[in-house]
Amino acid sequence: MNRALSQRTPHSLLDDPRAYAKLETNYRKNKEQDHTPKIDDAAKRFDYEACKDEYWNPEAYSLLHGTPLWDEASPTERVLLNQLYWVAYYSQIISAEIATILLNQTCASGLYSIEDFRIVCDGLDLESAQERAHIHAFKTIGEKVEERLFGERMFTYPMRTMYTETMIFHNSNRVKEFWRNIQLRAATMLTSGNAFLGCQYFAIRGLRTLNGKMIQQALAQPYLRASDKAASPIPAQVSYFHFMDESYHFNTSRLLSHDVLHCLPPPGPFERFVANRAIDGCQRDHFHFSVTVKGIFWYDPSLFHPVYRILRSKVFGMDHADAREMIRRCYTEESDGLHEAYRIHATAAESYRAYVEPLKYPNARNRDMAVMAGSTMERYLSDTRRAFARFEGHA
Ligand SMILES: [Fe+2]
Ligand SMILES: [Fe+2]
Repeated sequence: MNRALSQRTPHSLLDDPRAYAKLETNYRKNKEQDHTPKIDDAAKRFDYEACKDEYWNPEAYSLLHGTPLWDEASPTERVLLNQLYWVAYYSQIISAEIATILLNQTCASGLYSIEDFRIVCDGLDLESAQERAHIHAFKTIGEKVEERLFGERMFTYPMRTMYTETMIFHNSNRVKEFWRNIQLRAATMLTSGNAFLGCQYFAIRGLRTLNGKMIQQALAQPYLRASDKAASPIPAQVSYFHFMDESYHFNTSRLLSHDVLHCLPPPGPFERFVANRAIDGCQRDHFHFSVTVKGIFWYDPSLFHPVYRILRSKVFGMDHADAREMIRRCYTEESDGLHEAYRIHATAAESYRAYVEPLKYPNARNRDMAVMAGSTMERYLSDTRRAFARFEGHA
């Protein structure tokens, strides 16, 4: 910045040339390798008939993998469960990315109040445009699959704002949803006018994508390992292209929340309070683990109805009693799938602890990820058993 003339703050992004250089490299490489045209093209070329007999993900990334449904499924049904994992998983990613688009912009405007932040804002503009391409591809493919298999929505949903629940299948009620809506609106206003909070959002974005990074890395493998990449199923191609774009987004989150934060004025008590509330909210959003879609923090009792409809659909063809019994066995009993979902959740909490460890402002509850640590297998089973008794009464 021009130090000869008066400035509003003594801070500039150029005060930390190393952080600036890292941001510049990350932005330049993302621009050079931008996968938007490939993702758009893949979405356009998607034809379910052409890849309906293939696995789109590694086998372990299948709906209800490691549960009785998977164990007893025919080879054809297993392929379907694998494809439905893709649809369900990326339906959740759409929701997260709708929020990311808005928060990238509000936080960029908070950060732009400090001198020399143009590079960050330009990078975030590119990321938001990439998210729109990602959403378009996930939505196009997910909707075509559901239309073809079921003729109705199971995991997908019509386009919406970020002010609905970010977790599509959650444990909420109208009062909680209303309160959350107010909090989100307040958060967007606060981040747009405060550089620290704008920057701190990227700690949340980084946390939220840590687990995603692990899963999406696995989902990128079939394409990476394919000898004829162009012949691999379109959804597998999209998984890979998406993972490549997201690796830059993750770097941005880490750079802003860990490196750039140091060149901003230290937070006051209000900023520390808001920042801790945000991490707390992330822990709550990531409290549950799901055997339906492992690696996603959905509340499984809210999936009983969609899974029941899938089992009753012509593709699985179960009658009422069989579908109900399958849901009981998959969700209320211990299984390899449950152990695996719990293990992934525990690994996520561990990586979140490591991520916030270098930050100065998180309180003990957020440092220890104490909320997430309360999510145990015993609790899962008592929740699902209670919910199944209610479900049985309605089904
Ligand atoms: Fe994305
Ligand atoms: Fe992203």
